[in-house]
Amino acid sequence: MLIDSHAHIQDEKFKHDLDEVLENAQKAGLEKIICIGYDYETSREAVKLAHNFPQIYAVVGVHPHDSKKVNEDILQKLYELARDPRVVAIGETGLDFYRDLSPRDQQKKAFVEQIKIAQELYKPVVIHDREAHQEVLDIIKKERAGKNGGVMHCYSGRLPLAVELMREGFYISFAGPLTYKNAKKTHEVAAKIPMDRVLLETDCPYLSPEPLRGKRNEPANVKYVAQKMAEIRGKDIEEIAYITSLNAKKVFRITG
Ligand code: NI
Repeated sequence: MLIDSHAHIQDEKFKHDLDEVLENAQKAGLEKIICIGYDYETSREAVKLAHNFPQIYAVVGVHPHDSKKVNEDILQKLYELARDPRVVAIGETGLDFYRDLSPRDQQKKAFVEQIKIAQELYKPVVIHDREAHQEVLDIIKKERAGKNGGVMHCYSGRLPLAVELMREGFYISFAGPLTYKNAKKTHEVAAKIPMDRVLLETDCPYLSPEPLRGKRNEPANVKYVAQKMAEIRGKDIEEIAYITSLNAKKVFRITG
């Protein structure tokens, strides 16, 4: 059994065939799918899906790209959404200094505000960090963002940073790029990281793994990420599936 710990299946790219996508996931052995919001609307959609399907759980938040849209009203509405028992974390939030689609000071502010919501509700945070490693770590430490646990999604840093994040209470999640031939740095981290802190994800519809690069990604493809992790660690895919699913249930406090 596998868990896709980071999927955007509420995205409009799944509007026409979500039933089929969920069936594919089931056939691929997926036990659960964590549906992640990236703005208020998609967070609300995530909660809706989590209420309609027992295998889906929701994470609500505003992506750093959309930080410029965050205001008091949105934060209040997010807080209300986040109280729902099917919401297992706040996110995805964080910093993206690669694309810089929102001003950096607004990204930081929205990040801190969402950490505060997570803390008020005793829920973990799901963090997006692209080319902002030091700034993200500084905020995590200052705000004690990992107090209720957290996930660093689609991990792209090196091992020492992963160690610091784990010390702060974070789990490290690997996505499709783990399967890319040239992802040597990520392979090195995956080879050495303690397996009891590892999650697997697709980040679908983005980041399709090998051999499906360029196509729309979907939760079933998390099996390719698991396969690559098994290869790197010299383990059976079943063992990787078991430990990463257990980890996902721990951090998101999913029982059963
Ligand atoms: Ni994402």
